[in-house]
Amino acid sequence: MRIAVIGAGHVGLVTGACLAEMGHTAVCVDNDQEKVSALQRGQVGIYEPGLPELVGKHLGTRQLSFTDQIAKGILGSDVVFICVGTPSLSNGAPDMTQVEAVSREIARHLDGYKVVAEKSTVPVNTSARVEKTLRRHAPRGIEFDVASVPEFLREGTAIRDFLHPDRVVLGVQSPRAEALLRRLFEPLGAPVLVTDIPSAEIIKHASNSFLALKISYINAVAALCESVGADVVKVAEGMGLDPRIGRAYLNAGVGYGGSCFPKDVAAFVQMAEETGDNFGLLKEVARINQEQPRRLVKKLRDALWVLRGKTVGVLGLSYKPDTDDLRNAPALEVIALLQEEGAIVQVYDPVAVPAARHLLGESVRYCDDPYAAAQGADALLLITEWSEFRSLDLDRLKQALHLPVFIDGRNLFDPQEMRARGFEYHGTGR
Ligand code: UGA
Repeated sequence: MRIAVIGAGHVGLVTGACLAEMGHTAVCVDNDQEKVSALQRGQVGIYEPGLPELVGKHLGTRQLSFTDQIAKGILGSDVVFICVGTPSLSNGAPDMTQVEAVSREIARHLDGYKVVAEKSTVPVNTSARVEKTLRRHAPRGIEFDVASVPEFLREGTAIRDFLHPDRVVLGVQSPRAEALLRRLFEPLGAPVLVTDIPSAEIIKHASNSFLALKISYINAVAALCESVGADVVKVAEGMGLDPRIGRAYLNAGVGYGGSCFPKDVAAFVQMAEETGDNFGLLKEVARINQEQPRRLVKKLRDALWVLRGKTVGVLGLSYKPDTDDLRNAPALEVIALLQEEGAIVQVYDPVAVPAARHLLGESVRYCDDPYAAAQGADALLLITEWSEFRSLDLDRLKQALHLPVFIDGRNLFDPQEMRARGFEYHGTGR
């Protein structure tokens, strides 16, 4: 099938490359000409393991192409995916400017029956608005359907998540659209759930908010564990063995970040406010999350008493491993708090340093390896659990530190082992 993907950001690019891998022909459209030229040369500007290889492969097979001309993408396509950004407005609601604008553009180029499906994370009933916009601007007599096909991929494992999903959700309004979308996703062999469109739109926000809720829940339990001397890792294990609860997303730590959970929780709260359905539960989820960087810095203050003039090493900047994404990264909040108190900060991250330079400038010292970040420091904070940190030479690390204070914001290390090696070790909730 021939697919147009509008928006070549993280979701759009992964969608285009994976559809090509599934045997379809995907045309990715983006209005950023520089980005399009780079992609046409196979240069992928975002960090996503396996994506440059997949893009290169399908530029070669000609099943994937890039253009800044929306008409070229849409003409002759069977399905159009809207994958443009929906950044947060100051009240937490998403800014729908780009979705509205591309809906108008798509309408003008409709040349026969197509399914126009949203993949961007959007508020419930966005499809209805897209449909109205398409009708208003489409040529007379043209048939189309709108649909909602929410995306559940995670940064860092996006290709695997796309090609081996737990489920494909198809929010549709007609048997014709259902048949077309079923055929599109058939090669994945994944369970398909067909729903009405508003339900599909809600599934996305409800899923992300629920995962965020699990994280804040375990972080609240972690605080309690610290107060009573229990171990949150054991607690999570004990809870997780119950299949009704499940172990996933019960890792206590410095909190969730990224472009999805913080934004989607805020958007869900805002959506409920608009309909008069108060979602106070999720407000508390966000509040607990915002507390986590402060709790970590408090541990450091308890260990060092005064932070002014102290050197603090930070391991990991990205909001999670295997990405260079710093959006809502807890590390940024931790660093801001440290600097407010007059600490000198030296950081190491395997991939996010170039991105960090844009945001932090020269206000921190950038190090080439974890040992350099520990060198002469009064304490070391682990914020992102990059897998390379699991194999650190702990004796070398301790030697590099001025004081062996280690605050583990992701419970990567075993407290007993760390203490046996002479670290003053503080985990999270244990
Ligand atoms: C999330 C969802 O997991 C995807 O299903 C969804 O498609 C995506 O948002 C989206 O809406 O586009 P992502 O933001 O890439 O994916 O990252 P996750 O791997 O889910 O992690 C989010 C944050 O939660 C990270 O900061 C991570 O460190 C934190 N986290 C995760 C915890 O603190 N504890 C956990 O147990 C799990």
